[in-house]
Amino acid sequence: MKIAVAGTGYVGLVTGVCLAEMGHDVTCVDIDEKKVALMDSGKSPIYEAGLEELMQKVAAAGKIQYTTDAQTAYNDAETVFIAVGTPESEDGTANLEYVYQTATTIAESVDKDTLVVVKSTVPIGTNEIIEQFLKDHVKPGLHIEVASNPEFLAQGTAVKDTLEASRIVIGVESDWAKEKMYEIFSPFNQPIVCTNRASAEMIKYASNIFLALKVSYINEIANFCELIGADVETVAKGMSYDPRIGDKFLKAGIGFGGSCFPKDTKALFHLAKNEYDFDFKTIDSIISINNDQKVRLFYKAKDDFGNFLGKKVAVLGLTFKAGTDDTRESAAYYNIDLLLEEGAEITVYDPEGIPAFEKEYGKKLKYATNIDDAINGKDITFIMTDWAEIKNYPAERFVALMSDANIYDGRNCYETKVMKAAGVDYYSIGREK
Ligand code: UDX
Repeated sequence: MKIAVAGTGYVGLVTGVCLAEMGHDVTCVDIDEKKVALMDSGKSPIYEAGLEELMQKVAAAGKIQYTTDAQTAYNDAETVFIAVGTPESEDGTANLEYVYQTATTIAESVDKDTLVVVKSTVPIGTNEIIEQFLKDHVKPGLHIEVASNPEFLAQGTAVKDTLEASRIVIGVESDWAKEKMYEIFSPFNQPIVCTNRASAEMIKYASNIFLALKVSYINEIANFCELIGADVETVAKGMSYDPRIGDKFLKAGIGFGGSCFPKDTKALFHLAKNEYDFDFKTIDSIISINNDQKVRLFYKAKDDFGNFLGKKVAVLGLTFKAGTDDTRESAAYYNIDLLLEEGAEITVYDPEGIPAFEKEYGKKLKYATNIDDAINGKDITFIMTDWAEIKNYPAERFVALMSDANIYDGRNCYETKVMKAAGVDYYSIGREK
């Protein structure tokens, strides 16, 4: 099928490339000419395992094109996927500006019946509104319909998550749309849940927020473990043998970040409250626990040191998790802001996240190109992301290089006894100090 994909962020680009891999003829649309030229040359604008290789493979097979010419792309396509960003507004609701811009262009461009598939995470009910908007703006006599197709890919494993998805969720309101969606997704050979649009939209939120709940729950358990002398890693392991609980998303740490969990929790909470006067008590707790958890390391260190004036601090890990260059809602920002306010001198290191921090902080921070340089001569090291190279860094080197080996580890990268034996003053989450 001829498919256009609007937006080449994580979701759009990965979706486009994977649809092309499944045999569809895909045109990816972006307003950014430089980005389009880059993708045209076979390069990925984002760091994502396996993506660049797949881009080159489907390009060689003639299955994908990149363009800024949205009108032609939408008009040529039988189906248009909307995968543009829905960033969080100041008030916590989802900003749908880009979705509506795209819908306007689609309505103005198409000359034949078109199915529009919304992949962007949008508040419940939005797909219906977008469909009405398209119907009001499209040329008379054309049939235009919206299907919901929420995205479950996680950054770092996006290609694998799409090609080997646990399920494909389709929300449609007619057999016409259902048939087209099955035609698109049958080659993926994955379980398909086909339902109405509201249920599809809700599946996305309910799934993401359930995972955020698991993380917040284990973080709260971890904080309590510290008080009673229990070890959260062992507690989580002990829980995980029960198949009803499972072993995923039970890693205690400095809270969840990224482009999805923080935004989705707030978006559903506010939608329920503002539009239905519904109090989502679980989501309220998740947000509150996470807000505390992301600055836990800073406050723990403040308790120990009193203040940070003139203290030389290293921050290892800036991305919201390992395996991505994405720093959105990373706990590192919140801790660094507090440390700067207190007069700390900060050197940061991350294998992928430095450019985003340089853009945000400029000369307020120092930027190291490796762990050795970052920790050399420092009084305190904070660990924010569990990159393999950080996890594999030998305890003895912290002792050899730091002026005083105080480590606050928000990702439980090391064994407490190994750190202690090496002479590190080691704090981690939910474990014995
Ligand atoms: C998430 C969902 O997993 C994905 O299905 C959805 O489509 C988008 O949101 P992503 O944001 O890429 O994906 O990251 P994920 O791996 O889910 O991690 C989210 C955050 O939770 C990260 O900050 C991570 O460090 C944290 N986390 C995750 C934990 O602290 N502990 C865990 O056990 C798991």
